[in-house]
Amino acid sequence: MILVTGATGTLGSPTAELLRAAGYPVRSLSRRASDDPNSVVADLSTGAGLSDALVGVSTVVHLASGANARDSQQTRILLEALAAHPVEHLIFMSIVGVDKHAFAYYRDKNLSEQLIAASGVPHSILRATQFHSFLADLFRAQRWSPVTVVPSFTMQPVAVEEVAERLVEIVAASSAQRVADFAGPEQLPFRELAQQWNLAHGRRRPVWSLPLPGAVGRAFARGDHLSTLPGAGHNTFAQYAEHAAASR
Ligand SMILES: NC(=O)c1ccc[n+]([C@@H]2O[C@H](COP(=O)([O-])OP(=O)(O)OC[C@H]3O[C@@H](n4cnc5c(N)ncnc54)[C@H](OP(=O)(O)O)[C@@H]3O)[C@@H](O)[C@H]2O)c1
Repeated sequence: MILVTGATGTLGSPTAELLRAAGYPVRSLSRRASDDPNSVVADLSTGAGLSDALVGVSTVVHLASGANARDSQQTRILLEALAAHPVEHLIFMSIVGVDKHAFAYYRDKNLSEQLIAASGVPHSILRATQFHSFLADLFRAQRWSPVTVVPSFTMQPVAVEEVAERLVEIVAASSAQRVADFAGPEQLPFRELAQQWNLAHGRRRPVWSLPLPGAVGRAFARGDHLSTLPGAGHNTFAQYAEHAAASR
């Protein structure tokens, strides 16, 4: 049995679906109850329900991450539960560059990686760049604005479906600690990605790019969140934008 945390999320949904399509028995963990008999209710910020969720589980794909509870707190609580319910393989989704980036969320993600590495639990850690949908959310939030404002750095977005496919491969393999980063096929200025989005959606408006201040801004400007080209992903953001516009 494979337990997928964050199974209701952007990455968790296609991952659980692909795992089921590959024939694995999958249990989806969420804080919310559902009619799905294959789902289980648990809260990683308190540990409530976690012990029951882990019964009979051999692999955990840990994709949950919450804004209100720190990523490392959730990982710590999961590892405490795994001490009582050992598994053969824990797979953790992380982000490219977390070991050098100044962004607080990334630093905390790095702490999660360190906790897992020190836990003795057989594990694999996959880092990915930002998902296409992450950028799309930023552009959608500005759809009524006469200009699109973006930070003046480069991004290497990746298709979430391709990350999910990679996770399925990692589930099928033995634990490997850090595996190769998974990044999108192109490194492009945020400004150009916004122009691609606007073009696909038939919006003619200027794109302004502004520098982000402070250490976080410098880290993004340096490209600490980027992988090396070429990334393993194939699907481009322009393709994603065209598909999103066509399915409006
Ligand atoms: N988004 C990106 O661009 C990106 C890029 C690289 C890596 N990642 C990493 O990929 C992973 C998945 O990201 P995502 O964008 O798919 O996340 P998401 O869409 O925001 O989904 C977050 C998931 O976490 C679950 N969750 C949050 N708090 C929880 C708690 N206390 N207990 C149990 N479950 C909880 C939510 O489940 P319920 O609400 O159903 O409880 C939800 O399914 C994260 O580790 C993230 O850091 C994301």
